[in-house]
Amino acid sequence: DEAPGRYKVRSLALAEAGRHQIRLAEHEMPGLMALREEYGDAQPLAGARIAGSLHMTVQTAVLIETLTALGAEVRWASCNIFSTQDEAAAAVVVGPGGTPQDPQGVPVFAWKGESLEEYWACTEQILVWPAGEGPNLILDDGGDATMLVHLGLQYERAGVVPPNTLPGEPDHTQEMNVVRDLLRAALEADPLRWTGIAQQIGGVTEETTTGVHRLYHLAESGELLFPAINVNDSVTKSKFDNKYGIRHSLPDGINRATDILIGGKVAFVAGYGDVGKGAAEAFRGQGARVIVSEVDPICALQAAMDGFQVARIEDVLDQADFFITTTGNFGVITAEHMLAMKNKAVVGNIGHFDNEIDMAGLADVPGVVKTEIKPQVHEWTMPAGSGPAAADGAARGERSIIVLSEGRLLNLGNATGHPSFVMSNSFANQVIGQLELFADMARPADEQQYERQVYRLPKILDEKVARLHLDALGVRLTELSKAQADYLGVAVEGPFKPEHYRY
Ligand code: NAI
Repeated sequence: DEAPGRYKVRSLALAEAGRHQIRLAEHEMPGLMALREEYGDAQPLAGARIAGSLHMTVQTAVLIETLTALGAEVRWASCNIFSTQDEAAAAVVVGPGGTPQDPQGVPVFAWKGESLEEYWACTEQILVWPAGEGPNLILDDGGDATMLVHLGLQYERAGVVPPNTLPGEPDHTQEMNVVRDLLRAALEADPLRWTGIAQQIGGVTEETTTGVHRLYHLAESGELLFPAINVNDSVTKSKFDNKYGIRHSLPDGINRATDILIGGKVAFVAGYGDVGKGAAEAFRGQGARVIVSEVDPICALQAAMDGFQVARIEDVLDQADFFITTTGNFGVITAEHMLAMKNKAVVGNIGHFDNEIDMAGLADVPGVVKTEIKPQVHEWTMPAGSGPAAADGAARGERSIIVLSEGRLLNLGNATGHPSFVMSNSFANQVIGQLELFADMARPADEQQYERQVYRLPKILDEKVARLHLDALGVRLTELSKAQADYLGVAVEGPFKPEHYRY
């Protein structure tokens, strides 16, 4: 269903189903609900116009409605072509008080299974507001909305769009051609569109490791157009969502996609950062034997001490039944690797972008055949004579591998992403980040705290986010006595750790 400029979703008829799920999710998101309680009356986001680009799930619906409960106007798109839950998108458009015939909610431009052209058009929609206004804040996941503003401005000023969003990234030419076409059309419609949009934006809060990486890069090269808050590196985000969220949603994605028993199998996990730690633990919890790869000696040693075999992918291609990338890097699984994998190996990525697995290289293998088992699950049958003779007796040429979500993050493509409780932590950080930036924008210029740099939230707010989630789990926190606090050199009410503490 579509109303130009107002929404574009799969079907508003799904709104009731979405609303039931949102209602249950609210119960599991005490952090967001506590922020509604704390700030609802004061309306601290009144006047904020937030452009959100983040997986349009049920949990994100609760985030969006928290932002509006605090006074913000919001427009939303998903940050991945496969991650939208259509019923959640419909419910947000209809709103708690509306009907499909009379939608009263927030403009959303997102549906599961967008093309790349549609994806970028949706991202543009959140930045172009009615009456020629633009957003004054961005809430981003992976940095695509932020990139579009930077690229748009660059295109308007110099007429160029680079082949990649970051120097040194692999060739994104195909996707960047889509962006270039969109920018060219925008320029024809309004030669100063991006100048106008960029001028109004007072800051961005960024959700994930990959988007934060882009922001630091822009800040270092002096190109960052507005202040940024790195939500990912709040402890209550990356040490919870990236780890415990993945521990839940990785097996969820694999199960919904394949229903292959994990117990007793061999699972290979590339990367042992926060996401890799959650992935490896999930596989072990299901009874798999886990092999990890790392480039960082510290993380490799951690994996070994946690009891995992640490090896290179090329040495275990014929052993693993599951291959999962969690690195945020590119080219981690190559076409050559996939040609040498065990028959019916399951291959998936859970890092932000789809370039961790060389899907283009796989498609270019002469004679390879792709069969859709169901949406976001594809069997790739290898050409006769390629790869090693399979140990399980499959004749040469009869081997195939199963690729999930076409190499895009499988926990959101094949399942519904992380569960509500962990996202309540991440999104409470998002809301607090938006409050911080918006409050700063209201100060006179010479009193503003945030420059065109990347900031983390203060530790006391990180601790606050954790506090908001303790009661729901029955946690009874011990309190320091004044004497104990003095002995440790901290305040009774925190913060409890120095900045360099690693948790
Ligand atoms: P991280 O930086 O903590 O971990 C990545 C690890 O991969 C690092 O330890 C690094 O040394 C390792 N690595 C890099 N290149 C490698 C290679 N070629 N082979 C083996 N290991 C390699 O990052 P984090 O937070 O774990 O995030 C990883 C990715 O997952 C990012 O793209 C992030 O945006 C994404 N992410 C996805 C989520 C989801 O729901 N699917 C949730 C959170 C993050």
